[in-house]
Amino acid sequence: MSTEDAKRQAAAQAVALVEDGMRLGLGTGSTAKHFVALLGERVRGGLKVIGVPTSERTRVQAEAEGIPLSDLDATPELDLTVDGADEIDEDLRLIKGGGGALLREKIVAAASARMIVIADDSKRVAVLGRFPLPIEVVPFGLVSTTAAVRDAAAGAGCRGDLRLRKQADGSPFITDGGHYILDGSFGAISEPERLSQALLVVPGVVDHGLFLGLATGAIVASPNGISTYGDLTKTRMVPRS
Ligand code: A5P
Repeated sequence: MSTEDAKRQAAAQAVALVEDGMRLGLGTGSTAKHFVALLGERVRGGLKVIGVPTSERTRVQAEAEGIPLSDLDATPELDLTVDGADEIDEDLRLIKGGGGALLREKIVAAASARMIVIADDSKRVAVLGRFPLPIEVVPFGLVSTTAAVRDAAAGAGCRGDLRLRKQADGSPFITDGGHYILDGSFGAISEPERLSQALLVVPGVVDHGLFLGLATGAIVASPNGISTYGDLTKTRMVPRS
């Protein structure tokens, strides 16, 4: 089975969990793209759902698929978000943001009672950190913020290259929120919660790609079949105003 087949199989399993009337967070990335395409097929077959996209890219795809869309202002509470991940550890902690959509992905996941991750089995790791950690920062003060991020990460036991993400033409990659991304090649992140806290207090850091305590389940496809992790039916308490 190719990686693309594995991604599609994981997505198909997640689409089977979608029920009429659900308010859905729609993830971003090559795996989530399969989910949105398969969801579109079900919508065209009569399924009634409403989707909140986690990126402009996903919004464009979902619109083309005919999926009715909303945003978190109109639909602040979601039943289920389905999204990909760059890494998944044994406690369902994630690294996300390889596609640059981490901020909206995290806001949407946090507004969802369930977050199910779909992935091929190359994303499963014992310890997070092989994939560089995306850290979203405001452009203002980039040089000082980068230095502060480096210090904060070192204080949490994470040292390594911190690189401004660039586009093919050499200009900085800009997120949907108008921010930059620093990719931190820290290697093994032995204490993700500690690193998360350290990064979040740096002025200029908007958020980072560690998703901790957000995923409630995962569907991982490999040539040997599909494995599920966590509880695909479990819901989380979502803070309400
Ligand atoms: C987008 O910003 C990311 O968080 C993606 O969800 C993540 O990078 C997984 O993408 P793939 O499914 O393309 O591997």
